[in-house]
Amino acid sequence: MAVNRVGTTTSDASGAKSTVISGLAPDVPDHRSSGFRAAIRHITLPSEARILEVGGLSGDHTTIHLLDVFDNPIDIVEIDEERASNLQSKYDNDPTTKDRIRLYNSDAMDFTSIHTYDLLIIDMPTGSIDFGYEEILPNISRYLSVGGTAIVYTIYDHAAAYDVDDPPGNGDQPKAFMLSFFGAPTLTVERVDERLRPTGFAAIGLVDRWMLKGHRKGHGWVCLEKLPLPAA
Ligand SMILES: C[S@@+](CC[C@H](N)C(=O)[O-])C[C@H]1O[C@@H](n2cnc3c(N)ncnc32)[C@H](O)[C@@H]1O
Repeated sequence: MAVNRVGTTTSDASGAKSTVISGLAPDVPDHRSSGFRAAIRHITLPSEARILEVGGLSGDHTTIHLLDVFDNPIDIVEIDEERASNLQSKYDNDPTTKDRIRLYNSDAMDFTSIHTYDLLIIDMPTGSIDFGYEEILPNISRYLSVGGTAIVYTIYDHAAAYDVDDPPGNGDQPKAFMLSFFGAPTLTVERVDERLRPTGFAAIGLVDRWMLKGHRKGHGWVCLEKLPLPAA
């Protein structure tokens, strides 16, 4: 898999290189105010590659862009039975998606596959972002190829997300998670890289979820590259 890196290259304290594929509001034509779309526009997938998505819901936030930007098949894991069933019907009834999308009604922690994927999306509900990083990413990324990309929904600025009139739930738990997991209530590519590189992922990008134009601020996507296992 190739990532067309267009951003600035930075070095962390150990001298390891990480490359920012896009900033918080990347100047990508055709982004439709979606940081997710802007991020995936930097990724080139081989024709035989497969995409794995955790979190189906309506498909209107991420899947719609995956279908449009790539030609590859997409497997979606959705824990809610009704959502999974509705989504499968929706895609089966459309001849352009019928043969490309397969829904798995399962907890991502129980999902197994015979496939290896080149692109993994983890789009958990806002209150479960911690679960996405601490449990799902380490578990399900066994199906991600080395050099493959994982894109994980995140809060990157806790104050911007929660110190607002209508926050998305109680911010105490997300703040405690950001402090304990990342060591700060705000994220940068460098901070994510420092935290996740020892676990086998280089941080290659951080983009705003709604390109800083939407109603909600401080929500984004962390883009990671799976690293080879260190030599024994
Ligand atoms: C933010 S929504 C996903 C939005 C979706 N990507 C879209 O384009 O509409 C999160 C979804 O994750 C599902 N979910 C929550 N926990 C899960 C788990 N452990 N395994 C699989 N899906 C889960 C929820 O039921 C919900 O539908």
